[in-house]
Amino acid sequence: MAVRPILTVPNAVLKQVSTPVETVDDELRALMDDMLETMYAAPGIGLAAVQVGVPKRVIVMDLAREDEPPQPRCFVNPEITWRSDQMAVREEGCLSVPDIYDEVERPAEVGLRYLNYQGELVEEDAEGLLAVCIQHEMDHLNGVLFIDHLSRLKRDRAVAKVKKAAKEAA
Ligand code: NI
Repeated sequence: MAVRPILTVPNAVLKQVSTPVETVDDELRALMDDMLETMYAAPGIGLAAVQVGVPKRVIVMDLAREDEPPQPRCFVNPEITWRSDQMAVREEGCLSVPDIYDEVERPAEVGLRYLNYQGELVEEDAEGLLAVCIQHEMDHLNGVLFIDHLSRLKRDRAVAKVKKAAKEAA
């Protein structure tokens, strides 16, 4: 396992549409292991493969609270099968847009279909933080960042701030 560098805006790779995974094999599991390690090291609660420069439809996540044991989860080729009419607003952040947080409105509940770490087909309904996080991460698979849901002014400001911070850190 290895911690991989996380791409930040305005890296063009983050705008790529990720391609479906053909088989969940040991090579893919090694990628998911690296992604989990990278996410925990950041630290973050969700990460899409494209954020470490691999444009495949793979997401890792852990929504356990600090006082709970880790609950690593993997989503391969995830699809949303239905969305609630009811919407919910929650503050979001992103490891590719460090230190920027803003409110995004999304459907409050969604139905999910995906392959897990073992390659098994899973269908489940998501609400609360899981619903927010999976929609945020699935946006990444389509080249969309949470700041793309904000006004152009806020988006431009966020990108400028991340660019400046990266320059200062270099
Ligand atoms: Ni993100």
